Amino acid sequence: MSPMKAMLFAIPLAVTTLLAPTASAQQPIVIKFSHVVAIDTPKGKGAERFKQLAEERTKGRVKVEVYPNSSLFKDGEEMEALQLGSVQMLAPSLAKFGPLGVREFEVFDLPFMFDDYAQLHKVTEGPVGQMLFKKLDSKGIVGLAYWDNGLKVMSANKPLRMPDDMRGLKMRIQSSKVLGDQMRAVGAIPQVMAFSEVYQAMQTGVVDGSENTPSNMFTQKHHEVQKYTTVTNHGYIGYAVIANKKFWDALPADIRTTLEGAMNDATKYANEIAQKENDDALEGIRKSGKSEVIVLTDTQKAAWKKAMLPVHKENEARVGKDTLQEVYKQTGFKP
Ligand code: LMR
Repeated sequence: MSPMKAMLFAIPLAVTTLLAPTASAQQPIVIKFSHVVAIDTPKGKGAERFKQLAEERTKGRVKVEVYPNSSLFKDGEEMEALQLGSVQMLAPSLAKFGPLGVREFEVFDLPFMFDDYAQLHKVTEGPVGQMLFKKLDSKGIVGLAYWDNGLKVMSANKPLRMPDDMRGLKMRIQSSKVLGDQMRAVGAIPQVMAFSEVYQAMQTGVVDGSENTPSNMFTQKHHEVQKYTTVTNHGYIGYAVIANKKFWDALPADIRTTLEGAMNDATKYANEIAQKENDDALEGIRKSGKSEVIVLTDTQKAAWKKAMLPVHKENEARVGKDTLQEVYKQTGFKP
């Protein structure tokens, strides 16, 4: 072997020997964190913040891989992926827990239940929030935190001012019995569809409109294919940040504690920015000039509320009378 060739063999060998022991002794614990919205949203930013804090504070012993925008799993698929251990963390919207069999979560889908974040936090940070997380245990899931998004608006290609304007419209919803009832209450036809498919469905006329938060709509560019966006504030979208229970319980105790701390701080951050993210997104929709933003008068808003409120009673048994009463008590809601 020529001296030159010998050197070429020797170098990679030396490098491998040098790195191998360190790499195997210090393989980081990998957390795949999948979600369905854009990075530039309250949830997207919260996930990035958690990654940053978790990696810094565990000094690289944990690596968090965030997969935004349904790049790994669509909503509807991600819950099973978590239970099977294909991903370790998710932050599904609260509406996604009804189909899992924990129907009490659908209390969050009830129309006009929450006026603002303060009311909502009384529920998520109180006994109901704890009770709901307990119910996830038997599903192999551990609840880590509640993250805010915001109040929902409606979009369509016609101006929606009164509930009657919804009559006959095919409206995309998340898979939730309560959300279906809410759309039927105003004469619309609910269409369950994955979040990642909504833009195209709007563009091709498969659906006429949808409900979502301004931040979700703006970052998916729904305003480009919806001529009107009405600020109905008729419902709330927020998240439960969850982990695969087996994975979480098997973490070294010091790592788990550090991750819990990182989650607390990421939660504070995500909940602090949620309102502004949605305000900015609504302003972005308005400024785009592509979708006219309609603000309802008090009379119009009262008409939407009146039309949708029967959905509470219809779903009382489903979400559980006790849960519903407790939520009413916390929020001061008068049915
Ligand atoms: C939706 O499916 O409309 C939203 O819940 C998506 C999300 O996670 O915010």
